[in-house]
Amino acid sequence: MITVSTIAELRQARAYLAGPVGLVPTMGYLHDGHLSLARAARAECASVVASIFINPTQFGPQEDLAAYPRDLPRDLNLLEAAGVDLVWTPTPEIMYPPGYQTWVTVEQVTRPLEGAMRPGHFRGVATVVAKLFNAVQPDRAYFGQKDAQQAVVIRQMVRDLNFPIEIVVGSIQREADGLAMSSRNTYLNPAERQAATVLSRALAAARAAFTSGERNASALRQVMTDTINAEPLARWQYVSCADPDILLELEGPISGRALLSMAVYVGKTRLIDNLVIRD
Ligand code: PAJ
Repeated sequence: MITVSTIAELRQARAYLAGPVGLVPTMGYLHDGHLSLARAARAECASVVASIFINPTQFGPQEDLAAYPRDLPRDLNLLEAAGVDLVWTPTPEIMYPPGYQTWVTVEQVTRPLEGAMRPGHFRGVATVVAKLFNAVQPDRAYFGQKDAQQAVVIRQMVRDLNFPIEIVVGSIQREADGLAMSSRNTYLNPAERQAATVLSRALAAARAAFTSGERNASALRQVMTDTINAEPLARWQYVSCADPDILLELEGPISGRALLSMAVYVGKTRLIDNLVIRD
């Protein structure tokens, strides 16, 4: 496995890779969610590139950029074991040199849900992913359903800007008790870690209601909020039952598919989770 940092080194190493090339963009502190994407890329592509970059422009001023966990030696070992060929670890100065002033803004699909709670977040995500795509020029890029809105935003950007890249979305990897894997789970103390199962429990309760015949979107949101309200260490920020493609809230009876999603504070840690339900 080759590790590079500058764009010149990346382009040189990229030129030797056999195609199709798969890209797995990450912010590091890797867990099985990230590694499941690397394994999918390994199975489907001749060469696999991973990037590790804690992108400062997608963090709000009050968010956890400085505290974001990092462990590059461990990440490199995990990527090598997953069969990754090339790892790109740019610095903030490489990605955003002095005078940087170009941004990618995806419109409607960035407005609800995470976009409403984290102003500027998706501008940072779309911009950095466009830069990763331009530098690596992958044939396929792998994203997780854990960040459902992010996957919708990237698909929209790829369509609108004609990136010749196939977007592959991998399923959510979970701990044994249902908690979706996340680098941010490391912020949780033991009591909070236990309380954090409330997100997957709320999704499971809504799915059970749906399976028993409940089709009303507001009723499903209510099942989720009731579950979260019963957990003293948890405070929900939003709870949604939305159209999975355009991400607007559904009202009244659901037909076809719905994206159940939520952001929940457990102590000071903000966690997200989601589930797609369908008839
Ligand atoms: P990061 O949070 O490191 O996640 C990298 C990729 O792993 C994302 O596509 C994310 O959806 C996926 N992922 C995270 N947890 C997962 C889980 N439990 N199961 C399956 N996939 C999971 O998302 C980002 O980084 C950044 O926004 C990035 C796309 C790299 C742009 O900076």
